[in-house]
Amino acid sequence: MTSSRISGFYNLTMDERRAKLAESASLSPDLLAVYATNGGLNAEAADHMVENAIGTHALPLGIGLNFQVNRKDVLVPMAIEEPSVVAGASFMAKLARAGGGFIATTTDPLMIGQIQVINLVNLEEAKLKLYEHKAELLAEADSIDPVLKKFGGGARDLEVRIIDDSPIGGFLVIHLIYDVRDAMGANAVNTACEKLAPHVESITGGHVHLRILSNLADRRIARARCMIPVKELAFADFSGESVRDGIIAAYAFAASDPYRAATHNKGIMNGVDAVVIATGNDWRAIEAGAHAYAARSGKYTSLSTWNKDKDGNLVGTLEMPMAVGIVGGATKVHPAAQAAIKLMGVKTASELAEIIISVGLAQNMAALRALATEGIQRGHMSLHARQVAIAAGASGELIEKVAAQMVAEKVVRSDRAEELVREYTGTQVHT
Ligand code: MEV
Repeated sequence: MTSSRISGFYNLTMDERRAKLAESASLSPDLLAVYATNGGLNAEAADHMVENAIGTHALPLGIGLNFQVNRKDVLVPMAIEEPSVVAGASFMAKLARAGGGFIATTTDPLMIGQIQVINLVNLEEAKLKLYEHKAELLAEADSIDPVLKKFGGGARDLEVRIIDDSPIGGFLVIHLIYDVRDAMGANAVNTACEKLAPHVESITGGHVHLRILSNLADRRIARARCMIPVKELAFADFSGESVRDGIIAAYAFAASDPYRAATHNKGIMNGVDAVVIATGNDWRAIEAGAHAYAARSGKYTSLSTWNKDKDGNLVGTLEMPMAVGIVGGATKVHPAAQAAIKLMGVKTASELAEIIISVGLAQNMAALRALATEGIQRGHMSLHARQVAIAAGASGELIEKVAAQMVAEKVVRSDRAEELVREYTGTQVHT
């Protein structure tokens, strides 16, 4: 049984951290060795993945600690360049743990494929004809991917929508609902849509134009909730009640104002994307789905909610599309993605989605807690200062020294960092 609570993790060397992780998750230490070599993606593999490849691009990989999802401890790999995100998620996971951790669920992994039918004389008539042939269209779509079918996936439903107010006038859109099981599903759905096209044209007499999945994957939803006992929220001079009410007021801002909601949701995506990237999934698809879902009522709003329960404890919820897979694509090809899946011990795409949605909720709480109390800059400052120090030429022990000085002065700027590097290294200044 994995334990996600590893005290003193921060103080270990990277080698020691990987050893400790392997021990905590009962994995062979070799499995995590890929993280010591830029994620283990070699030039040859990269060359097969994209065109005109000239090498690879690495990101830091941090571990979200303390997570408990559906009563199970999980160590969460997070690939992200931004300071404070991994620490914020880990700390909030610790608070959530005190209230039972994150409880998460997913719908069936249903993706939507869209088929646009144009050049139709009578939209209503064509729509009804498609419904008359629904069973055979579904059977055809269902037979396209025998592997997916073997694992219990396949075509589930077909819906026809009329779009009558477009710049080219009216047309039909068929939604093919496809259960993609543990795949992200884009390939299966796009193939099915393309294969159905000739049949759709012969039924309707129209012309099939686009055949592509929708990233507004609102049939493939992940949901998470957590409860934080109010006393756990107290820190420094802030009472638990004041932190709770501050978080709720911060949420109210995002719920009511799209300008704030965009930033609020960006904070959620800090956590979501980090795990999506670490597992080799398509983070552009997840981003597109999240923001389209946030605007589904016609007004862009918060993806999460924060309120209190009858005992005055803080309760958070998060709901969004989560089209992630654990088979196919980069999830299978990228050695670091494979290691990430093994580290989490997930066996299905739904389990992965449940972890990701929980991390998104934790990340959202980390941002709101900071914003509602001491402000975001304090926590950011020291990590940010280290990056500024490195960019100014500091290395080794000098990084901490320059960063600490800038934080003490409350001046975290590249010109000051350069001055300090020159000062500490005795470098001559030529003016
Ligand atoms: C920064 O990457 C994310 C935040 O702006 C999120 C938020 O404002 O809720 C801190």
